[in-house]
Amino acid sequence: MTQTFRVDAIVVGGGGAGLYAALALARENIPTAVISKLYPTRSHTGAAQGGIGAALGNTEPDDPEWHMFDTVKGPDYLADQDAVEVLCNEAVDTVIELEHLGLPFNRTPDGKIDQRRFGGHTREHGKAPVKRACYSADRTGHMILQTLYQQCIKHDVKFFDETHVVDLLIEDKVCRGVVALNCATGEICVFHAKAVLFATGGSGRMFKITSNAHAMTGDGMAIALRRGVPLEDMEFFQFHPTGIYKMGILLTEACRGEGGVLRNKDGEPFMERYAPNIKDLAPRDIVSRCIYEEVRQGRGIGGKDYVHLDLTHLGAEVVEKKLPDITDFVRTYMGLDPVRDLIPIQPTAHYAMGGIPTNKNSEVVHDEKNTVLKGFYAAGECACVSVHGGNRLGTNSLVDILVFGRRAGVRMADYCRRSDFAPLPPEPESAARAGISRLASNSDGENAAALRRDLQSAMMDHCGVFRTEELLVKAQRSIQGFKERYRSVGVSDKSQVFNTDLLEALELGNLLDLAEVTVASALARKESRGAHYREDFPKRDDKNWLKHTLAFRTEKGVRLSSKPVALGRFQPQERKY
Ligand code: FUM
Repeated sequence: MTQTFRVDAIVVGGGGAGLYAALALARENIPTAVISKLYPTRSHTGAAQGGIGAALGNTEPDDPEWHMFDTVKGPDYLADQDAVEVLCNEAVDTVIELEHLGLPFNRTPDGKIDQRRFGGHTREHGKAPVKRACYSADRTGHMILQTLYQQCIKHDVKFFDETHVVDLLIEDKVCRGVVALNCATGEICVFHAKAVLFATGGSGRMFKITSNAHAMTGDGMAIALRRGVPLEDMEFFQFHPTGIYKMGILLTEACRGEGGVLRNKDGEPFMERYAPNIKDLAPRDIVSRCIYEEVRQGRGIGGKDYVHLDLTHLGAEVVEKKLPDITDFVRTYMGLDPVRDLIPIQPTAHYAMGGIPTNKNSEVVHDEKNTVLKGFYAAGECACVSVHGGNRLGTNSLVDILVFGRRAGVRMADYCRRSDFAPLPPEPESAARAGISRLASNSDGENAAALRRDLQSAMMDHCGVFRTEELLVKAQRSIQGFKERYRSVGVSDKSQVFNTDLLEALELGNLLDLAEVTVASALARKESRGAHYREDFPKRDDKNWLKHTLAFRTEKGVRLSSKPVALGRFQPQERKY
């Protein structure tokens, strides 16, 4: 039995982008429902610990134009400059609005929102690091979730929690709703809508060492891809330099923003050699490569593949008060005390710069000419607007989810007022039901958890921080094999209630499709730019590659195409720090 709901606006995802969109819709009195596979305040926005970037200039001079410069240079000139302008200008009002909504920011002694340093953020076009990250200890993302969730409740947004979206209903290039699985009952539900927003987050779980929560399996991106939407710039996947060794759990960049340094086996603060101007606060792609370079040169700790994060000179007051969560993580997971001990860290897969292509109004665009797909919107990590180009700057993810989440809500409200419900296709749930039945009926097939582990190892080893044609071809072959094995994946749990066996099998299918596209895009891009570093093509090649990749899924596999980058006032230059 299929339940059908009819709601003007459906928001898929209960993180910062989804909640801000839902709030904007509700403020316009548009009937709105949020569908989230997690309880919303457990969403992965909480992992953005250290701050939200906005040129408030509260503690030292700053300017949105400097923020724009950094946001174009940090991403290695692949960001669309019209979107970057929107991001950096609207960041300022967004932070002020959050303050007015009740977000408990840290304060300066005179009561203004306090700001701290973060990687790649500078004053006067690269002269020196600037304090631009507005923060709430190292729980900024969590505070955003709490603040926006409370506002959504206040504005009567309807929530369908623990509901897992499995299909997108598009016919004749018009979006008509989604199909979802109610995790608590196992029922399939159809949501008939005028407008749908995907704010479903990232796909870091395709890598072995990742900061991403278990749920970050790229569901929205994979569903859109299967329904004919290309994915943009998927070869650009960011490794955050400071994950807890072997576990990947994030230790915020704010550790270095507050003065922490990275040290090799000799105790040397090695970033001084690589980025003499901004040292440990160089962008993440650079710092991650430098860590592995130290390891390759035999300067990892104890001959292993990690280095140390040193906070010991900051003092207990700074560490415990400004970085309380990571202090707990290090004490709990490592049995070390960051006030006294050096912390073993390694780069951890953190953020997908690529995703569902959108324009500045968060409308999904589905071809090389940026044609809008009516009624379908995307925002946050699952989207590619593109403000992060080849390498996102820290704190810009929170700006992105809020600025483009809110813009999505405003635009959807306008669209809902102007449009009728487009009819649903006959038996809209049939494709989803068939896929689920196939998995559920296969009792003794391939084990999904084992297959996922193989995928994660292959992606980590062959499509990670350093890439070559040889490694990427290996990854491609492995993924073809994994996809074959996936055909016989089985689900041994036959129950309807919270069948996590089934959910994880569905998620694995999403990860496999995204890994395939990521590797195909990485293999094609024969240059190094931002987080995509090809040892066989170590230079950036603007003549041939200053363009966005578009990857389509076809019967015959991945088809690649491209579209131009929106350039602007900042012309590509060599990226020196
Ligand atoms: O390091 C961090 O606090 C992460 C923030 C981000 O990814 O923007």
